[in-house]
Amino acid sequence: MIFMAILVTGGAGFIGSHTAVELLNSGKDIVIVDNFSNSKPKALEAIKKITGKDFKFYEINYLDREKLEKVFEENDIEAVLNFAGYKSVGESVRKPLEYYDNNISGCLVLLETMQKYGVKKFVFSSSATVYGEPERIPLTEDCKTGGTTNPYGTTKLEQILKDLYASDNSWDICILRYFNPVGAHESGLIGEEPQGIPNNLMPYVVRVASGELKELSVFGNDYDTPDGTGVRDYIHVVDLAKGHLAALNKLDKEGKGLYIYNLGTGTGYSVLDMVKSFEEITGNKVPYKITQRRPGDIATCYSDTKKAKEELGWEAEKGIKEMCEDSWNFIQKNK
Ligand code: UD1
Repeated sequence: MIFMAILVTGGAGFIGSHTAVELLNSGKDIVIVDNFSNSKPKALEAIKKITGKDFKFYEINYLDREKLEKVFEENDIEAVLNFAGYKSVGESVRKPLEYYDNNISGCLVLLETMQKYGVKKFVFSSSATVYGEPERIPLTEDCKTGGTTNPYGTTKLEQILKDLYASDNSWDICILRYFNPVGAHESGLIGEEPQGIPNNLMPYVVRVASGELKELSVFGNDYDTPDGTGVRDYIHVVDLAKGHLAALNKLDKEGKGLYIYNLGTGTGYSVLDMVKSFEEITGNKVPYKITQRRPGDIATCYSDTKKAKEELGWEAEKGIKEMCEDSWNFIQKNK
């Protein structure tokens, strides 16, 4: 019997590891590729512990074409989920070439290798950042995209995949636009471990609550929002991971096509909502001060979830309580 496997690049990282868990739990075979550039080997052990299942792993850079080809030679890959992208906005401004190389050249090597081995089922991790300044709220998938304000955002524009599909419609592509992933697996064994000082709100909040950082800077309270602070659509990473399963099922069921979905909850929380909720739910204080706006930030961003609900049969199940609890649990267990 031939076992078909899903290739998960960046499977030791934050979203990759949670998706690997959900894939294994649903009975799929997986192969993970990671070079630990922004992740740790212990995540792989944690995936095995959580699921009680094993999988093949290759410690390689997905830009290394020869080594990547070997993965396709040695396994029957049926689909690819790519989580090997870099994701820090600030770093992308300082190191644009590294971001274009890893996120775009890497993705090209991956797609070319897939093409060579006749594997044409691909799920792409895009981001709500592609909407730039939102045309309207809530954001529907047909809102205009473009106008990203940093190199990271530019690497998420989906044109390469659209061109590929236009050239050969035997591809099966699902583009998922993530809103703001937070939280961690309830086991506390996998979660987000940003290196250095975090850029994103939730990792910063947990580090202030744990005493590692002194106080949160709230970037502006003069936005056109109910309390003046930025409003975002925070989504629990386990829900996000499950969205990838729904996307794969869609590709299996529908056959050839290029599909685009928002993965968000449809609910917007302000920075101060998040701080208050976190304090109430975990019982920890999060001292903060109001500072200037962060360049490139927008006032409000949350998703319309209708299309994903109707076409993927997927919707987020976890709320703000689990997002705060699980983020806090993870940092407590991994100090
Ligand atoms: C950011 C990126 C986005 C990326 C996403 C990944 C920018 C401009 N955008 O989105 O491209 O896809 O992360 O999750 O960086 N905030 C504070 N203090 C902080 C950190 C954040 O007040 O120390 C505020 C921000 O101004 C914003 C909200 O918290 O209103 C969320 O910020 P963040 O977690 O960085 O996410 P985004 O800016 O939405």
